Amino acid sequence: MKTIAITGVLGYSGRYIAAEAKRRGWRVVGLTNSAGRLPNEAGYELRPMPWSTQEDVLAGMDVLVNTYWVRFSYSGAGHAAFSHDEAVQNTKRLFDAAKRAGVKRVVHTSITHPDAASELPYFRGKAELEAALAASGIPHSILRPAILFGDTPAESILINNMAWSLRHLPAVATFGRGQYRMQPIHVQDYAELAMDEAESAGLHRVVAAVGVEVYTFRDMWKQLARSMKLWRPVLPVPAGVGYLAARVLGALVGDVVLTRDEIAGLSQDRLAVTGAGVGKRRLSDWVQRHASTLGRQYASELARRK
Ligand SMILES: NC(=O)c1ccc[n+]([C@@H]2O[C@H](COP(=O)([O-])OP(=O)(O)OC[C@H]3O[C@@H](n4cnc5c(N)ncnc54)[C@H](OP(=O)(O)O)[C@@H]3O)[C@@H](O)[C@H]2O)c1
Repeated sequence: MKTIAITGVLGYSGRYIAAEAKRRGWRVVGLTNSAGRLPNEAGYELRPMPWSTQEDVLAGMDVLVNTYWVRFSYSGAGHAAFSHDEAVQNTKRLFDAAKRAGVKRVVHTSITHPDAASELPYFRGKAELEAALAASGIPHSILRPAILFGDTPAESILINNMAWSLRHLPAVATFGRGQYRMQPIHVQDYAELAMDEAESAGLHRVVAAVGVEVYTFRDMWKQLARSMKLWRPVLPVPAGVGYLAARVLGALVGDVVLTRDEIAGLSQDRLAVTGAGVGKRRLSDWVQRHASTLGRQYASELARRK
């Protein structure tokens, strides 16, 4: 039986990828710092990530699937404290360990439009890691998703919290005219794609891991409101004003709702690609199916990281 190591195996996408790997007959080993913090219902063997000594955490692994990353840098306490710089350094160590252990293939999660020249640490860090993986010489696939959604509203933080805003606020906003696009993929589609790539060949494959539907930010508000049978004005506001509103909302719900960098990333049209998506599951169907529960509860990123 072949063995696959998966980072974030108890987290969001990693959990779906692990379940898909198991379904396909792989032995799964999880690399995580969340043993004891998050449930391990499937009873995966767990190894530490990051690790403190030079022990070879990837010894005996055929394939590595990497999801290790963080939405935004945060300097709070405990597991919530994590930065893009740490994620980059620890991931480079992971690739080195994969090389040492003779891992045959790496499937790495990146982002749509990684960019070494970007002022945004998210997109810059992802570009740095793509380059590090290519330099390692390990055969690999790089998957570039934009936004994940499903299976439950609570997991789909951005979309759920847009729905929450529609339910709780008299009006919602776009940063500028809101014509920048988003191309979400269902997390199960993403897991199947990751495993297809784990089982594929080729030295350097890059896949736009995006869904079939593309929405402008403005249309996303409208789609959600329509499915939830709510009417709310969608007001174009300057990005700075939108950020201040997100800060006020964040103070009320005890979370970081949206960072300045995330607003910039959205506004730069980085969350969609030109060309067809690979996901099968449509966001519009999913929203319709979850319309009665979507946004009933705020989904907190910081609570998830604690
Ligand atoms: N979610 C989305 O909408 C989305 C959109 C575009 C791209 N992506 C990409 O998809 C990948 C997976 O995203 P996900 O939402 O599935 O991530 P996730 O489950 O929240 O986290 C994945 C991994 O990152 C580590 N990590 C996350 N936050 C951490 C923290 N505060 N401290 C230490 N480690 C932390 C986790 O470590 P532990 O195992 O120790 O918990 C886990 O290994 C990422 O590379 C991300 O860039 C996601």
